[in-house]
Amino acid sequence: MNDENRTINDFGRQWSIYRDNEGFYGSMELFSDIISPFLNVDEIADCKVAEIGSGTGRIVNMLTGAGAKHVIAVEPSDSFEVLYRNVKQPEKVTCLKITGEELPAYGNLDYIFSIGVLHHIPDPAPVVDAAFKALRPGGHFLIWLYGTEGNSLYLALVRPLRALTKRLPHFMLVFLTQIIYWPLGLYIKFCHTFPLPLRGYMLSVLEKMSPEKRKLIIYDQLHPSYAKYYERFEAEKLLVDGRFINVQLHHRHGYSWTVIGTKPI
Ligand SMILES: C[S@@+](CC[C@H](N)C(=O)[O-])C[C@H]1O[C@@H](n2cnc3c(N)ncnc32)[C@H](O)[C@@H]1O
Repeated sequence: MNDENRTINDFGRQWSIYRDNEGFYGSMELFSDIISPFLNVDEIADCKVAEIGSGTGRIVNMLTGAGAKHVIAVEPSDSFEVLYRNVKQPEKVTCLKITGEELPAYGNLDYIFSIGVLHHIPDPAPVVDAAFKALRPGGHFLIWLYGTEGNSLYLALVRPLRALTKRLPHFMLVFLTQIIYWPLGLYIKFCHTFPLPLRGYMLSVLEKMSPEKRKLIIYDQLHPSYAKYYERFEAEKLLVDGRFINVQLHHRHGYSWTVIGTKPI
């Protein structure tokens, strides 16, 4: 099995355990944080949109919550069943069990989102190409990616750890997640006083998550077979090479990249 299929299988397993989107993790507050500074929640109202890599459907529900007219939800893993059950406004959502590169070339979508997905795909160019073809001229593609910049200490710890954890059986990884959960809570508390690495993310995002969702986020970092951390120029190149124009980048909470590009008219 190649890295792409192994990663899809990993997520199928992950989402069969962490199934819900409760609290801040699935909130409109977090959605607004993810799409800013490029978009306001209001701009999605009445739009035809897609999300590539929908997981348990939290972004899909945020999009319908923002008033999207219709959402195409793409999820290739076995978590498709979880996604299907979690969708809150099914009359507005079409769920497709396909990979991003298989997204049909609708040519009429206003926005396509892919949040935390392309960094798990070894060759994301065909997915970017499919998004380009599915958008209407003037439509926008917004992606969110793990970043390298601002993450050096974290990556020095996590890269060697992941070499082991991505191979661990589920019960051992859950055990490790429980162990890491406690010092992480302490680290978040210290961030209130000291300018520690990842402080922005800790205080603006992770601290607001429930204990279960913090554990999911630890698991999510350690489990997938493939995860790439993008440098700014790589993140920009992804959309520029995909023929998008007006490509803009935002260094979200100093550790990740939000990138938006427009399909030329
Ligand atoms: C970290 S999750 C993000 C889920 C969702 N976007 C969210 O923010 O809650 C990544 C998702 O991308 C999906 N994925 C992996 N490879 C993919 C591919 N080639 N095409 C589309 N989705 C893929 C995984 O199955 C997984 O559900």
